[in-house]
Amino acid sequence: MTSETLWYANRATGAACLVLFTVVVLLGIAVRLRGKLPGLPRFGTVTLHRTLSLSATAFLALHVAAAVIDGYVDITPLDALVPFVSGYQPLWLGLGTVALDLMLAVLVTSLLRARLGHRTWRAVHWLAYASWPIALVHGIGIGTDTGAERGRFLHGDGPDPPVARAQRPELTCPRASRRRSTSTGRPARPTACAPN
Ligand code: HEM
Repeated sequence: MTSETLWYANRATGAACLVLFTVVVLLGIAVRLRGKLPGLPRFGTVTLHRTLSLSATAFLALHVAAAVIDGYVDITPLDALVPFVSGYQPLWLGLGTVALDLMLAVLVTSLLRARLGHRTWRAVHWLAYASWPIALVHGIGIGTDTGAERGRFLHGDGPDPPVARAQRPELTCPRASRRRSTSTGRPARPTACAPN
């Protein structure tokens, strides 16, 4: 698998992960408020919450694996688990790591729920809500697409107004250029910030 494929895989799984976690958090709130989705019994909402959180975890594992395996930037397994120690984008990557660690804590305590008891499980489960905005800031800070319209949509900023777009025929792409600056002489990747 080429480095470029891994880069696209990293970005696609990151985006999928964020969308899935957003839905999982909303479903979690619905479960907490004893709400139910139209056409679904309450246990259906709980089951959907659980199934989507497992899917999101799978995408997260792929997201991290793609980042670590991709040799274009130097991200080690330790960088993915210990916050703010990476040489590549330490702050933005560190926030992703914090979100990952919080989600791992939630996952492990959910698997051990019967042994830990409901109160401990619930106390740790609140961390899932904290990890969502942290993951969002990670995606905005580190994502190549953050300045592009697709990325702005993903991060909830909405599309460019037509006037702004007309005045800005060429998008600058700070993330991609920062990424290029880490290059060790390899050709630069095509950026997602192509002119509109
Ligand atoms: C819950 C945890 C996480 C979520 C929801 C998440 C989500 C995202 C999103 C949405 C992006 C932006 C994709 C784009 O538009 O280009 C991104 C980028 C990235 N993430 Fe994560 N991430 C998480 C954790 C991590 C962790 C733990 C790592 C550490 C290996 C990591 C490594 C990266 C890298 C290297 C990029 C930059 C890709 C690029 O060059 O554009 N992420 N992530």
